[in-house]
Amino acid sequence: MLDAEVNSDKRPRKLLLESYGCQMNFSDSEIVASILAKEGFSTTRDPEEADVVLLNTCAIRDNAEQRIRGRLDYLRSIKKRKPEMTIGVLGCMAERLREKLIEEEKLVDLVVGPDAYRDLPNLIDRVETGQKAVNVLLSREETYAEITPVRLNSNGITAFISIMRGCDNMCSFCVVPFTRGRERSREPETIVNEARDLFNQGYREVTLLGQNVDSYKWNFNSKGEITDPTKPTANFAQLLEMVALISPELRVRYSTSHPKDMTDEVLHVMAKYENICKYIHLPVQSGNSDVLKRMNRGYTREWYLDRIAAIRRIMPDCAISTDIITGFCGETEEEHADTLSLMAEVKYEMAFMFKYSERPKTLAERKFEDDVPEDVKGRRLLEVIDIQMKSAAERTKSHVGKVCRVLIEGVSKKSPDHYYGRNSQNIVVVFPKGENYKPGEYVDVLASDATSVTLIGQEVFIPQPANAGTINQH
Ligand code: 5AD
Ligand code: SF4
Repeated sequence: MLDAEVNSDKRPRKLLLESYGCQMNFSDSEIVASILAKEGFSTTRDPEEADVVLLNTCAIRDNAEQRIRGRLDYLRSIKKRKPEMTIGVLGCMAERLREKLIEEEKLVDLVVGPDAYRDLPNLIDRVETGQKAVNVLLSREETYAEITPVRLNSNGITAFISIMRGCDNMCSFCVVPFTRGRERSREPETIVNEARDLFNQGYREVTLLGQNVDSYKWNFNSKGEITDPTKPTANFAQLLEMVALISPELRVRYSTSHPKDMTDEVLHVMAKYENICKYIHLPVQSGNSDVLKRMNRGYTREWYLDRIAAIRRIMPDCAISTDIITGFCGETEEEHADTLSLMAEVKYEMAFMFKYSERPKTLAERKFEDDVPEDVKGRRLLEVIDIQMKSAAERTKSHVGKVCRVLIEGVSKKSPDHYYGRNSQNIVVVFPKGENYKPGEYVDVLASDATSVTLIGQEVFIPQPANAGTINQH
C-alpha cells in the first residue's frame, strides 16, 4: 500500500501510473499517487494486474504524443482481454485533445487535465459504472499545496518539489500555456514544510520546480501589488533562501529559469549559500535576436549574454545548461550560425536540443509558416549537438585535478565496487566505495579523470573547520 492514510471503506485496487515528459509531470504523478492512495490504490508496474492504468502525458512535441499513442495501442491490446481495466490519460495531452482522445482512442475511458487531479476518485468511480469521464478544467488557484506527494521510484535522497504551476509567457512555439494554464505560485510555508519533512526523512537534495521559477511570487497580484498587506510576501530569491536555511546538509536545486526574468538577487542568494547548487538551467532556444523575437521570448542575444556574464561574475564556478530549438519558422542559415556561435561562446555544461515541432493553437502555428525542411532542421540539430558534445567534454575535464563535494546517490550501475553521486555542478562523479561512506552522505572526491560527461576520482579527507556553516565567508 502507498504510504498515506486510506479511507477504510475503499476496496484495494491496483494502479499502474506511467509518467512521460518533463520533471513537472513526474512531480504531478506523485500528487496523483497520493490522492489515489487514500482511495485504497497500491501501485504496480504490470499492466496485466492493474485495475487502473494512468498515463501522465506530454504534448510539447509531436513525437512525445506519438510515443504515448504507441503505448495506448499496447494497453488497448490488453484491455481487449481484460475489459474491466480502466485506461486514463492525464496531463498535457489530455488537456490538449480532451474528448477527442476518447473518440479517437476508442478504449480510453478517462481524460483528466493537470488541474483536475482531485477529481480523479470520482471520475474513476464514474468509469466503473460504465461511463466515460472527462475533466479538463484549468484553474487559476490550484497548486495542490497541502497534498503530501507519495515519492515514486525514489532513491530516498533526492526529491522534486513543485513551487508553482502554469505559465504566462506565451513563447510562440510552446503549447504549455494552453495545457497547463495560467501561472500561479504555491504558498511558501507549504514548500518549506515539505522540504523540511523530506530532510527529516533522510532526503538530502530537493529540486524546486516551475516552468519559470524567476516569476515565482507570493501575495502579489499580476500588477505586482501586494494582495494582503497583513501577510508576508515572497519572491523566488527569498523562497530559495528560506529553503536553503533548513539545513546546510540539504542541497537545493531549481529549474527552470527564464533569461528575461532572472535577477541578480537570485544569483547573490545562490552565491551566499554553499548548499544551493551552482547550476542554472537557462534555456536560450536560439542565438539570434530576430528568431528570439519571432519566438516571443522577451529578450535579445545581447540580453542573454549579459545574464550569462552576471552568472560568471557572481558565481565563477556555476554550471549552465540550456534548451535549443533548431529550424524554427523562417530560420536562415545565418540565424542558425548565430546559435552555433552563442553556444561556442557560452560553452554549456549540458543542453537539451530539439528540432522545431509545430504545435496546434500556438502563436507560431497561427502566425508563421513551418518552412524549414525536415532534413535542414535535422542537419542543424546535428551541428548543434556536435558543438555541445565538445563543450560538455571540455567543461567536465576542467574539474580534473580538483576536489569536489559529492552527494552519494547509490552504487554505480556499471561497477558494483563504485558509488556514484553528483557534485554541485550536477556532474556525475564515480569513485571506489571504500568503508567510510554510504548513499545519502557527502564525500569530498578528488577528480583524477573524466569521460565526456562523468568524473572519476577517489575520496579525500578534508578537515572541516569546527564552526563550518552554510554561509560562504567572502
Ligand atoms: N518544438 C520543439 N521544441 C520545443 N520546446 C517547447 N516547445 C517546442 C516545440 N514546439 C522545447 C523548448 C523548451 C523545452 C522544454 O522544450 O526548448 O525549453
Ligand atoms: Fe513554454 Fe515559454 Fe512557458 Fe517555457 S516559458 S513553458 S517555453 S511558454
